[in-house]
Formats: sequence, C-alpha cells, structure tokens
Amino acid sequence: MGTRMTQIGRMFADFFGIFHEFWTEFQKKIREYSPNLRHPRSNGIQNHPMQSILRSILKILIQKIERRVKTMIEARQLEKFYGKSQVLKGVDLTIEKGEFVSIIGRSGAGKSTLLHILGTLDVPDKGTVSINGQQVSGLNTQALARFRNQNIGFVFQFHHLLPEFTALENVCMPAYINKKSDSSVTKRAMELLDYLGLAARTTHKPGQLSGGEQQRVAVARALMNRPAVVFADEPSGNLDSVLSKELHELLFQLRNDFQQTFVIVTHNLELAAMSDRCLEMNDGLFVPKSL
Ligand SMILES: Nc1ncnc2c1ncn2[C@@H]1O[C@H](COP(=O)(O)OP(=O)(O)O)[C@@H](O)[C@H]1O
Ligand SMILES: [Mg+2]
Repeated sequence: MGTRMTQIGRMFADFFGIFHEFWTEFQKKIREYSPNLRHPRSNGIQNHPMQSILRSILKILIQKIERRVKTMIEARQLEKFYGKSQVLKGVDLTIEKGEFVSIIGRSGAGKSTLLHILGTLDVPDKGTVSINGQQVSGLNTQALARFRNQNIGFVFQFHHLLPEFTALENVCMPAYINKKSDSSVTKRAMELLDYLGLAARTTHKPGQLSGGEQQRVAVARALMNRPAVVFADEPSGNLDSVLSKELHELLFQLRNDFQQTFVIVTHNLELAAMSDRCLEMNDGLFVPKSL
C-alpha cells in the first residue's frame, strides 16, 4: 500500500515537473517573440505577429463573454411542424437581459407556438434554445421542469389561477413546487401582492377578484421565483382597454424597477410601440413590420 502511494506520488511529481518545464519554456518563447508583451505600447513594436494573434484571440474571448453576459435568450433556426403543416420556419431570435420585447402578428402566425418553445413548454422539431446561458434543448423532462420553475415565469391570456386557493396561496405555489415553504415564501408573496396593489385582496379566491386583479395575481405568481425571464401570451387579451393599459404600465414598471426581461405576445399595438423592440410574425417567420 505504502509503495503504491509513493509510486502515485512520484507520478504526480513527474507530471508537474514536466508541466512546469513546458510552462517555463512556453513563457520564454513568448518573451522571445514578443519581449514587450506586457507593455505593448512601450517601445513601439505593436504589430508583432504573436502579439496580434494573442490580441485577436483575447478580443474574440471578450466578445464571447460579453455576449454571454448580455444575452438572455438565444434561439437558432427553430422549426415546428403540426402534421404536415410547418408552423415555425426557421426562427432566429436573440434577446438581451432586461429587454422588453413585444411580438405581434395575425392569428395563426405561430406566436404562441414560438413562446411555448422559448418558455420550454414545448420542444422544436429543429433548432436550439438557450436561456440565461443554459442550452435547454438537451435537458431531460425532470431537469427541464426544474429549470422552468426556477428561471421562467408565465402569464397567459386566461390567468390559470387555481380556483380553490386564495390569491396569496396561488402566488406562493411556484415556491412550493420548488420545495420552499418557509416564512420567507409568504413574505415575498405578500410583498409582490403589495407591489401590484393587491395587499387588500390576499385572502380572496380568484372567483372573488375582478379580471384585472386576477391578471395581477397571475403576474405576481410569475415573478415569485425571481425568474430570469417572463413570457406573457396576450396577457391583456381578456381585459378592457383601461385595465389593459394599467397592466401594461405595470409590466414596464417591473422592467424599470427590477430589470426584468419580458417577451410578450400582444394585439395591443400601443403596448408594442412602447417596448424596447417590437417584432412581427407572419406565417412562421419574423417579417418587416406592416401593422
Ligand atoms: N397543438 C396543435 N396542433 C395542431 N395545430 C396547432 C397546434 N397548436 C397550434 N397549431 C396551429 O399552428 C398555427 C400557429 O398557431 P399559434 O402558434 O397558436 O398562432 P398564434 O399564436 O400566432 O395565433 C395555427 O395554424 C394553429 O392552428
Ligand atoms: Mg396565440
């Protein structure tokens, strides 16, 4: 046993010895080729091949890191078929962190299908989706459900609140699913409801709330686990114009206060015009805006 450990120790020592030798030699060579690498501007040698190679590698690395830090959603060449009918025809989309993006377009254009795929509720037949630096395409069902619960919030046209639970319980639900049930959960849910102007409605069940209030509870629920991105599919589609405007103002306020990323499918062109970016879909692709 003892000799074996000594052998392994020697192997490691040899390995590090070789590595150290290689490293010293490598540094020497770099210094030879580019003696002023640390201070490229000190003696005017700026275009040494080694230097420019290193500089361009560094530039590419920095660009990649910057892109990764800034990008919230990256979708490449998404295709989706229902039977023989192709609903998405190679959609590319990049959304930055903190961006408020609206998607408009005629009924049947593929907006909901795209949103469901971006939100990991559905899978594309071709193409990839990455959210907050995570390639979601390769995740199994369980990992995907966990990822969705922790990173994604949804607001649908119809609130989908659970009718037998109170507003507060509905808002807490994503945290319960995430196996959190301490007092911090109730505290956060109360803070969210308060922020959304629902402090006096926490013990009401969805049936006792107005349409606008129900939708605000749904927004609070979507925000409960501090998602990286919130997807909303016609969130005001079921509200009158005054309530619709209120809901939209609230979403913008959330973006401004918390740099929350939003991707919203809407028919409301006024809201769409207020977004950072408005994209129009037609027949499974983004097209130059016509609406
Ligand atoms: N589950 C499904 N099965 C079959 N066809 C579907 C399904 N979901 C959507 N579609 C079809 O795909 C097309 C795009 O639908 P959708 O993404 O809901 O459009 P939008 O949200 O822009 O109105 C429509 O023609 C619709 O009928
Ligand atoms: Mg739709």
